[in-house]
Amino acid sequence: MQLNRENMPKHIGVIMDGNGRWAKSKGLKRTMGHKQGVENLRTIVKECKRLEIPFLTVYAFSTENWKRTQEEVSSLMWLLEQYMTRELKELHKEGVRIKTIGDINELPESTCKKLTEGIEYTKDNRDLTLTLALNYGSRSDITQATKLIADKVKNGEILLEEINEETISNHLSTNFMPDPDLIIRPSGEYRLSNFMMWESSYSELWFSNINWPDFGADQLQQAISDYQNRDRRFGNAK
Ligand code: IPE
Ligand code: IPE
Ligand code: MG
Repeated sequence: MQLNRENMPKHIGVIMDGNGRWAKSKGLKRTMGHKQGVENLRTIVKECKRLEIPFLTVYAFSTENWKRTQEEVSSLMWLLEQYMTRELKELHKEGVRIKTIGDINELPESTCKKLTEGIEYTKDNRDLTLTLALNYGSRSDITQATKLIADKVKNGEILLEEINEETISNHLSTNFMPDPDLIIRPSGEYRLSNFMMWESSYSELWFSNINWPDFGADQLQQAISDYQNRDRRFGNAK
């Protein structure tokens, strides 16, 4: 597919949904769907790198996903650890910087440790910033930003009158990335499910019925191609 290299999204957010349904449709356990979902992340990261997209943020575990069975949560954490173990060298070679958003301290200790190691190991890379949203929820993130700002006001570091939209953005865990230009949600659901709600104010949204494990490079290209045909007005009249 021919994409306009002058008009590529700088930041793509992906809600990696549909692993369970993918597995069910094949008569497999949900965990097999997650395993395939992780495999697919490898494909999409590679494609983003090839397309020179500087920021990719993937929603991997929400603050609400703790509601799932312990078996499912544990298997997700284990898959995550495996991903970090197996992929780290390759990601580093590809110039990928690993980051996370969400409170990873609440994840199992071994998972948190692997992530921290990966973040440290790749911290100087700049070709592609791959951010894993883990134990992430936009409402929780906005809440912690509010607390940080309130504390600064209390200590006299910021004046109440000085608080503006930039202040909020700067105190969110996403403060190192530009707002997402394009948010992709596969699996046929049409909602954000608490993903980057502040940051997505002017994001282009793209939905697909395909489940995440089957969401290939061709789909990503289609999403970008459609994005390039959108008219982003940001409130302006045309
Ligand atoms: C997305 O797939 C992975 C996570 C939320 C961790 P799901 O597990 O939500 O898959 P469906 O929505 O049940 O198909
Ligand atoms: C959103 O998917 C979270 C992730 C993909 C990590 P969910 O499957 O949790 O979302 P809902 O429950 O369908 O809204
Ligand atoms: Mg789901």
